[in-house]
Amino acid sequence: MGLLGALSSRFRIEVYPAIDSTSNELKRRASGGAIDGLVIAAETQSAGRGRHGRTWVDQPGGSLLFSLGWNAPVPAIRLAGLSLAVGVAVCTVLERQGIARTQLKWPNDLLFRHCKLGGILVETINPQANAIDVIIGIGINVRLDESVRDAVAAPVTDLSAAGWAGERHALLAAILLELAPTLDRFALEGFHPFRAAWLARHALQQRNVTIWSSGHEIAAGKAIDIDGDGALLLQTPTGVRRFLSGELTLRPDRPDR
Ligand code: BTN
Repeated sequence: MGLLGALSSRFRIEVYPAIDSTSNELKRRASGGAIDGLVIAAETQSAGRGRHGRTWVDQPGGSLLFSLGWNAPVPAIRLAGLSLAVGVAVCTVLERQGIARTQLKWPNDLLFRHCKLGGILVETINPQANAIDVIIGIGINVRLDESVRDAVAAPVTDLSAAGWAGERHALLAAILLELAPTLDRFALEGFHPFRAAWLARHALQQRNVTIWSSGHEIAAGKAIDIDGDGALLLQTPTGVRRFLSGELTLRPDRPDR
């Protein structure tokens, strides 16, 4: 892809008209060889996956759906916060493309005007002594019909509603160009250098929230901070508590099913 310029040798891009899931395809390919730099993109997915086992709904031709393989040169324990750093990279690109005020909801929902614009699913496989294969799946709503929006339980929006009228392949290239230095820096320094940029975009910063796990409320309090591992710090009546995973809602809402 000419749009990748000097980074064209870092990524190998394959685009499928339809696939079960771009992340599943990378998993299949990981068992047969190296996935580092392999990008699988698709026009539509028949089994798109979101976090917490949810289905990721797309509109054929109206969504940006891709997964990037990365052989991270760090042990698994050093990957905490990677999905948040990826969120910062995607927001940075969208802002450069003229979409002001994109936000992130811990850990890595992409929001525009409090509605879900996209999501990030980071999975790991094949742990080695000092490296691990990471699959970074990214879905962004570009232009969804009302029927598709209605099929999603949560309030959703798309790039078109945010005033963006660009080309998906150019957006993919721009995100890859931002991810390359993001991953390089993350490998060296972890999440810490991305923390301030992430916090500046947190949609629920200083808000009263509930944190859920598998549909159960596990804590409530004020979202006061995240730490250098990307963990959420919640001010609760019994003190500050730290969470590395879970799902956040504004009080008194519940997670959408
Ligand atoms: C979420 O917010 O729940 C994460 C959604 C991630 C969706 C993307 S679309 C491309 C890749 N393939 C998948 O099956 N899921 C991710």
